[in-house]
Amino acid sequence: MKTRLRIRRQDGPGQASRWEVREIHHEEGHTVLSALMERNSEVPPVALEASCLEEACGSCAMLINGRARLACGTLLEGLADKDGLVTVEPLSKFPVVRDLVVDRGRVRADLLHMDATLGETRIGDPSRVQDLAACVACGACLEACPNYGASEARGVPFIGAVVLHESRLANLLGVDKVDRAVRLEALMGNGGIADCGNVQNCVNACPKDIPLAESIAELGRDTTVHAIKRWLFR
Ligand code: SF4
Ligand code: FES
Repeated sequence: MKTRLRIRRQDGPGQASRWEVREIHHEEGHTVLSALMERNSEVPPVALEASCLEEACGSCAMLINGRARLACGTLLEGLADKDGLVTVEPLSKFPVVRDLVVDRGRVRADLLHMDATLGETRIGDPSRVQDLAACVACGACLEACPNYGASEARGVPFIGAVVLHESRLANLLGVDKVDRAVRLEALMGNGGIADCGNVQNCVNACPKDIPLAESIAELGRDTTVHAIKRWLFR
């Protein structure tokens, strides 16, 4: 089979981007990532991130035909438009480092700010949180969110669904009450849960089917109860 990949390329941060079309021959079952990596044996290679190749690390997230997807889990078949093109671009909500590589450092910074970096605490999770702990930090939920990035114009960046979800998980994992209270206070602050417009694009965008709407609703209840208690016991 033959498909043409239309790739948005950029040589470095802040530089102008350009389109490049490459024709690829592929077999049934080939993914967008395998096509990109095959062509990468050619010069000049397309810069991209990939590690696990099995939808477990989130690093290969990119826009495929305008939608954020994991390239290692996206089959080429059926993707081409009427002109035989499959369009591949870097995620648009993060600064481009080069070609398809973006800097998602802001997500890490927001997780640290919310004290919601779970790390190895995922190991041995109680069963009730195991299905919630599948986030691969790909950023697809942020790409789909109309409020993520938009609020930066006000100087108060919205933390987005992934950080809200990981905050819920941190609360569930039973960290002590003081840490939970500090986290809830931070979630009630600028750029926190009040900036969620409840559009729920994130739910459909997530490749791991994480119940983001449920996480955001639960945090909404928790922050409301926390605010009432704070008022009663002030
Ligand atoms: S919640 Fe889903 S879409 Fe968002 S970063 Fe995690 S895995 Fe990706
Ligand atoms: S390479 Fe790890 S999710 Fe695609």
